[in-house]
Formats: sequence, structure tokens, C-alpha cells
Amino acid sequence: MSNTYQYILVHTDGPIAHIQLNRPKVLNALNRQMVSEILHALESFDQDNDIRVILLSGVGRAFAAGADIDEMAEVHSTDLELLNQFTDWDRIAWIKKPIIGVVHGFALGGAFELALCCDLLWAADDAEFGFPEVNLGIMPGAGGTQRLTKLVGKTKAMEWLFTGARITAKEASQFGIVNKLISKEVLFEEAIKFAHALAKQPPIAIRYIKEAVLKAIDLSLYEGMQYERKNFSLLFSTEDQKEGMKAFIEKREPDFKGR
Ligand code: CAA
Repeated sequence: MSNTYQYILVHTDGPIAHIQLNRPKVLNALNRQMVSEILHALESFDQDNDIRVILLSGVGRAFAAGADIDEMAEVHSTDLELLNQFTDWDRIAWIKKPIIGVVHGFALGGAFELALCCDLLWAADDAEFGFPEVNLGIMPGAGGTQRLTKLVGKTKAMEWLFTGARITAKEASQFGIVNKLISKEVLFEEAIKFAHALAKQPPIAIRYIKEAVLKAIDLSLYEGMQYERKNFSLLFSTEDQKEGMKAFIEKREPDFKGR
């Protein structure tokens, strides 16, 4: 995909697509156009059969410092409601391929919300998360109160959202917000290495696992189990299931084609 975007950079490396937030002068503050560019890139890579894993990171000294405050400062509530900008965020949550967020520096407000939309988070030891919206007289609007609470529970979510406190990378790791805490120097190298390993996994199984896990957050156990069961059965119509089991029996590495 050629880079026709204004606020993001995109490139591919074999089965890995990399999207970088690129407004470093304002710490990658997410304006509405940037969010729609992120969505466009994600949806394009989701439909691209050559891509198996998507990385999301920030250029400069931060992942991103949240939604663009300059863009929001004078907006009126009825205009905001009519704009309905958060539908883009709903579509981000519908991306089927695995998204790895690679976070260094700040991931605040809308950027923390974007990180929480990722399936896995690799964080540098200097990463700082948080919802400072309350200090601006507002609250998160792109899923922060919901995703954070479902992830860490009411107690810490309430504290962090009330105070706007910064959550260190170490704390984020302790609370299960990030998967890996890595020194900043090797963060990207390690994330890319992991992405290539993940890209070798059977893509349709990965897709159905992602769908089932996300359903677990929304649905009752019984309803979630119905999804799991359906996806489990469907995988038996894939070539990858035949290849995976044949390779096991033949004592060799499987070669998954995503079919
Ligand atoms: N929007 C617009 N511009 C921003 C920004 C934001 N969210 N965050 C940083 N910037 C700009 C600064 O204004 C500054 O620009 P100038 O050089 O033109 O003055 C530049 O980025 C560098 O920032 P600082 O000089 O402030 O850098 P710092 O290292 O001293 O501080 C920071 C970094 C603590 C992250 C600080 O910039 C900050 O507090 N930013 C705002 C964080 C925030 O409140 N985020 C939540 C936004 S609301 C939201 O996200 C709503 C939602 O849920 C959708």
C-alpha cells in the first residue's frame, strides 16, 4: 500500500503490516482525520491476503498523547453528537487480524483507548498510560471507561479515571494491561520478531480465536461458548486444520496457508 496518508506512515515487511502514528510535533495527538486514516489502513490490511499481523506504534518520543485537544476545545456537544466520530472506533474494534500495539513514551487518553483496542501490547519500560481527560473536565469517549474496567476491574479503573493518574509500564504489566515489558532499545526489534512468529500461526484459527475471546468480554459464558463451539467446528473445514494435524502425525513443522 503506498503512503498516501497525511498523519500516519504505513509499510509492510512480508506478512507484517506496520502503521505508525506520525504527528511527532504534537506527540501524535489523534485528530479525527488521523483516526480515520488508521481505520482505513487497518481495514485495507485486514482485507489483504498477504498480511497476517498488524503492528501499531508512534513516531517520535511517544505512542500518542491522546485526542487532539486543539480540535476539541471549542466544539459544541450537539455538533459532537451529530459528528458521531466514535463509529470509526467501533470499526477499529471489528478488525479481524491480530493487532500488536507497540508502545513507548506516553499512551494517554484516546491513545490509551487505541492501545486497549489492540489484541496484544508490547511496551517499553518508559511507557506511561493514563486517562487524563478528567483534568480537562471531560471523560474518555472511545471506550476507555469500558475497556479498562473490563480488563482491570472496577477498583483500579475508578481510581485511575477519577485522578487521571499516570500508570507506569511496570504497573501496567502487573495489572495485565501489557503483555511484554521490554527495554526501549530493543522494543521494536522484539515486537517485529514476535509478529513474524505469530504470522506463522494458522491465520483462520487466529481470526476465530480473536473473535471468540472478544465475545467473552461482551457475552455471558453460555453465549460465548456457542461462539467458541461454532468457530471450533468451522475450523475443521480449513486446509490448515488438515495440514496442522497431518504435520503433527508426520512429526514435521506445519505450513499454514490461511485456507
Ligand atoms: N492535543 C493537542 N496537542 C498536544 C496534545 C494533545 N492531546 N498533547 C501534547 N500536545 C502538544 C503540546 O501542546 C505541545 O505543542 P507545542 O510544542 O506547540 O506547545 C507538544 O505536543 C509537546 O507537548 P508538551 O510540550 O506538553 O510535552 P511535555 O513532555 O511537556 O508533556 C504531556 C507531555 C504530559 C503528554 C502533555 O503534552 C499533556 O499533558 N498532553 C495532553 C494529554 C491529555 O490530556 N490527553 C487526553 C486528551 S483528551 C482525549 O483523549 C479524549 C478521548 O478520550 C477521545
